[in-house]
Amino acid sequence: MRLAMIGTGYVGLVSGACFAEFGHDVVCVDIDPGKIEKLKKGVIPIYEPDLDDLVTRNHAAGRLNFTQDLKAGIADCDCVFICVGTPPRPEDGHADLKYVYQAAKDIAGAMGRYTVIVDKSTVPVGTAREVDAIVKAENPAAEWDVVSNPEFLREGAAIEDFMEPDRVVIGADSERARSVMRQLYAPLSDKGVPILMTGRESAEVIKYATNAFLATKVTFINEMADLCEKVGGNVEDVARGLGLDDRIGPRFLRAGPGYGGSCFPKDTMALVKTAEMVGSPTWIVDAVVKKNDARKRQMAHRVGEICGGSVKGKTIAVLGLTFKPDTDDMRESPSIDIVDELQSNGATVRAYDPEGTDQAKAVIKGAEFCSSAMDALTGADAAVLVTEWAEFEDLDFDVVKSVMKAANFVDLRNVFSPANMQAAGFNYLSIGRPAAAK
Ligand code: UDX
Repeated sequence: MRLAMIGTGYVGLVSGACFAEFGHDVVCVDIDPGKIEKLKKGVIPIYEPDLDDLVTRNHAAGRLNFTQDLKAGIADCDCVFICVGTPPRPEDGHADLKYVYQAAKDIAGAMGRYTVIVDKSTVPVGTAREVDAIVKAENPAAEWDVVSNPEFLREGAAIEDFMEPDRVVIGADSERARSVMRQLYAPLSDKGVPILMTGRESAEVIKYATNAFLATKVTFINEMADLCEKVGGNVEDVARGLGLDDRIGPRFLRAGPGYGGSCFPKDTMALVKTAEMVGSPTWIVDAVVKKNDARKRQMAHRVGEICGGSVKGKTIAVLGLTFKPDTDDMRESPSIDIVDELQSNGATVRAYDPEGTDQAKAVIKGAEFCSSAMDALTGADAAVLVTEWAEFEDLDFDVVKSVMKAANFVDLRNVFSPANMQAAGFNYLSIGRPAAAK
């Protein structure tokens, strides 16, 4: 099949490369000439494990191409995917659809034959209908269908999530479109992956409901962690006990500093806004958004606590800045609020991240960016681990203790064992666990 991806950001590039791997003929279109030229040379604009290899291999095989020319790119395509950004609007946090609507107009003017236009970007409920209306107004004589096919790609595991998904969700209102989509995903359905066919609105709701549910699960375990701290429980035991119940499941029950990233914060907010607009408010998701926002900043208070009440005049080493490991993405990362709060309370921050330093410099001001964890820890009064990068597990705490001014460690991801940290001579605070294992 011939496919075009409009937008070569995270979703467009990963999906395009994976569809090419299935054997489809894929062209990725972007308005940014620099990006297209780089991609042609195999330079990948984002950090995602194994993506460079996948792109280079499929480009070399002639199945994955890049162009700025939207008209030529989509003239003879079976499916055109809208993969442009839907950033939150500054005025109210709802998803801004201007790029989606522009893509719909551009596609309408360039379609050569029956085309399935696929909303892959995360868009509010009703967008597929709106895209349909735009195409109709622009080119009523054309033959097309608009389908909603949300992505469920985690950063850092996007290729695995695309190639081995729990399910593929397709919201379509015509049998002709459903048949094209079935053919497109045949390499997955042949492997036994469930392909769920729904109406378009349901598919749009499934995307938001999935992310909102997972964000709720994370926020719920974070609340249980707070409770454990007050009553002397251990949140890891609680999470295990919850997760062993099949109806709940063990995933997304790691307590931490609050969720971040490009999806959970934006999608929960957009869901709240959509629900408000249609007069069906989502109280639960609204509470999750508020609770998570407050939590990030509260995490800085733990650092004050371990420093004897205040971070004023102290040097704090911040380990890990990205919203999670294996990405360079800083969007809505808890580190932004934590560093800001530490600085507002009079601390000097020395920060280190294995991959995200360049992105971090754009959003974290006034911190000193270090080239290694040891460098950041040298001379620090306390350390706070914000992102659980694997390399931090190898820290040699004898050396850490010798370079720090004081042996104070706050572990916001429960990477280390309280007993080991105590044995190593550290004052150690983590999330929802007693100071030393009982
Ligand atoms: C998420 C969804 O998982 C994915 O399906 C969707 O399409 C995009 O949004 P992503 O944002 O890449 O993916 O990250 P994810 O791994 O889901 O983590 C989101 C946030 O929740 C991170 O800040 C992470 O640290 C946090 N989290 C996750 C926890 O604090 N505890 C957990 O148990 C799981």
